[in-house]
Amino acid sequence: MKFIRLSHRNPTRCDSIAEAISRPGFGSQFTDHMVVIEYDANNGGWHSAIVGPRQPLLIDPAAGVLHYAQEIFEGLKAYRHSDGGIALFRPLENARRFNASARRLAMPEIPEKLFLKSLQELVEVDKNWVPEATNGTLYLRPFMIATEAFLGVRPATKYKFVVIASPSGNYFRSGESTINIWVSDYTRAAPGGTGEAKCGGNYAASLVPTGEAFSHGYDQVMFLDAVERKWIEELGGMNLFFVFADGRILTPPLGGTILAGITRDSLISLLRDMGHEVIEDRYSIANLKRDVRSNALVEVIACGTAATVTSVGRVKSSKYNIVIGSESAGPVAKAARDKLIAIQTGEASDSFGWVMRIGNAS
Ligand code: PLP
Ligand code: COI
Repeated sequence: MKFIRLSHRNPTRCDSIAEAISRPGFGSQFTDHMVVIEYDANNGGWHSAIVGPRQPLLIDPAAGVLHYAQEIFEGLKAYRHSDGGIALFRPLENARRFNASARRLAMPEIPEKLFLKSLQELVEVDKNWVPEATNGTLYLRPFMIATEAFLGVRPATKYKFVVIASPSGNYFRSGESTINIWVSDYTRAAPGGTGEAKCGGNYAASLVPTGEAFSHGYDQVMFLDAVERKWIEELGGMNLFFVFADGRILTPPLGGTILAGITRDSLISLLRDMGHEVIEDRYSIANLKRDVRSNALVEVIACGTAATVTSVGRVKSSKYNIVIGSESAGPVAKAARDKLIAIQTGEASDSFGWVMRIGNAS
């Protein structure tokens, strides 16, 4: 599909681009452009791809997304390499997960090639918004919403696929080397639900527990399984790894209730490559307490696109307070993070074939 390019270069913004990408924060500043592609089930499917000025979307007040929450999204980053080129990290995995989410939410799949082209088009037109690697990345947020106007409960026939971009630095406001986790009594996802889909509804449901975490001064919320309320699942926006003193590393399995993180999948490969035995298995909060007490557990690692790879210092609920090691960044987390970032930024060789270059060296 050919994209119509409506370039939008506001000369007065040149300074603000430099300013914005020098202190990017997370998710509060946006680039000049966006991609919009329309879908109509009764009129040929995907059509009218535009990369144009970033502006408000005009949707009918009866649009399906506003009533029955037919919405899915993805998150990935564009990295500036030292030769001036730009690269995406495993974008095909985002395309695949997006389509898996679409199937669960009864939404149309988008051809993987079109998904990738939309990212490429946006990054090319907004390439000046990609910070130098030392200063951050350009976070890309593809999403899809149901736009057909109707009130019956059924899948819509019309959708918009949109990609916006935001220069991004540290996800956690504290900027500390470890994060602290609040264990919620709320659950995130039950078997058979939408837990493994990246749909807005999952995040709406996580806002109260996340608010609880923040009000206690904690950075992220941890969810336990919804059936037995004892198995550790994931955080509000990150997956987890547990590092044992004997070198073994455990991560909760993908059973349909947690997001299949692309960082999680990458870390499994990297950690195995570093010589660790990595096991995908259930791990209970009771065993976490026991293993911390006996010093069998030495590190807890949280990972995700927005938050990268971060050590967990403390795990707390209304009933207990578990301190992990000396509450400082652990060596395994640090080594894995350095390796991952070196591949993403082109500083290390891409032996796994994860990096997709899109910008030419300049
Ligand atoms: N789990 C949840 C609930 C998330 O929102 C995210 C972030 O996207 C992750 C895990 C990590 O996934 P990824 O590594 O693909 O960003
Ligand atoms: C991401 O890491 O890309 C996410 O979508 C998580 C979100 C909490 C920002």
